[in-house]
Amino acid sequence: MNYTEPADLPNPGDPNDPHEFETELDVNADQLATGHPASPEQVHLSQALGALVRADQLFAGYFPGVNILNGTDLYAKDGELVGIIGPNGAGKSTLLKAIFGLVHINEGAVLLRDEDITNLRADQLVKRGVGFVPQTNNVFPSLTIEENMEMGAFQDPKSFSGRFDKVVDLFPTLGERRKQRAGSLSGGERQMVAMGRALMMEPSVLLLDEPSAGLSPALQDEVFVRVREINQTGVTVIIVEQNARRCLQIVDRGYVLDQGKNAYTGSGKELANDPKVVELYLGTLAKA
Ligand SMILES: Nc1ncnc2c1ncn2[C@@H]1O[C@H](COP(=O)(O)OP(=O)(O)OP(=O)(O)O)[C@@H](O)[C@H]1O
Ligand SMILES: [Mg+2]
Repeated sequence: MNYTEPADLPNPGDPNDPHEFETELDVNADQLATGHPASPEQVHLSQALGALVRADQLFAGYFPGVNILNGTDLYAKDGELVGIIGPNGAGKSTLLKAIFGLVHINEGAVLLRDEDITNLRADQLVKRGVGFVPQTNNVFPSLTIEENMEMGAFQDPKSFSGRFDKVVDLFPTLGERRKQRAGSLSGGERQMVAMGRALMMEPSVLLLDEPSAGLSPALQDEVFVRVREINQTGVTVIIVEQNARRCLQIVDRGYVLDQGKNAYTGSGKELANDPKVVELYLGTLAKA
C-alpha cells in the first residue's frame, strides 16, 4: 500500500528527538487543525511523522480471512524504548512477527524511515537494520555461543570479530563462555545469547518478544537492565513484555494491546498510573 501523509496535520517538530512526542501529545490529543476531536488513528498518524519505524492500521493473521491484528498502530522514533503489553492472546507476538515479515499483513503498512517494508521477507529486513528476538526457540541449542553469534552475522561474515567484541562489551559472559553450547546455558544466559545474536547485524531497531519470560525475578531485572543498555547504545527497541509493571517503568512510551487493537497508549508513567490500565491490565497478580 502506498502511504501518503495527510496534508492538514500539525508540524511534527524535530523527528530526531525521541522525547519530542511529549509536547505533541498536548497539541494533538484534544483536537487537530480541523476543530474536530482527533481519532486515535489521526493522533497516531500525526505523532508517527518522522518515526524510524511505524505500523499503520495493520490487519494481519495466520489464515486467510481471519485477522488477529485488527487495525493496530505503532511507532518508534530514533532512540526510543517502546513497550507493548496486554493480555495473553492479544496479538503482541503477532504484531512483532508481522513487522518482521513472518505473519502476512492483509491491510495496512509498515514503514522503516520512508521505505514501505510491508510483507518484506525477514532476511531483507535484517539487511535493512531490523533485528528480531522471538519469544521461543531463539537460540540454536546444539551450537556454541560463538557459533550462535556467527549465525547472527551470516549475512556479513567478515564483520564477525568486530561485532562479537561489541556484543561481549554488553554481555561479558558470552565472551567468557564462547565455546559453551547454548543448550547448556541457564534461561537468563540464553536470552543474552538471543539478544547478542540479533545485535550481530547492528540493527537500528530491535524487536524483543518477552525477553524476561520464564526467568527468576533477579534475572528478569538483569534482562531489563540489559535492554536499557542496548537502547542506550543508540538502538531503538520495541519490547513486548508479560511483566507489564516492570516494562512500563523502563520504557519511554508504551502500548496496551487488546484483541489486536490499541487499547491505551502513553508514556510508561502515564500508563502505569492510569486507573483503567491498572484495573484492566496491571491487576493484583502483576503487582511486583
Ligand atoms: N502460528 C499460529 N497459527 C495460528 N494462530 C496463531 C499462531 N500464533 C498465534 N496464533 C493465535 O493468534 C492470537 C494471538 O496470539 P499471539 O501469540 O500474538 O498473542 P500474545 O499477545 O503474544 O500472547 P502471549 O502473551 O500469550 O504471548 C491467539 O489467538 C493465538 O492463538
Ligand atoms: Mg506472545
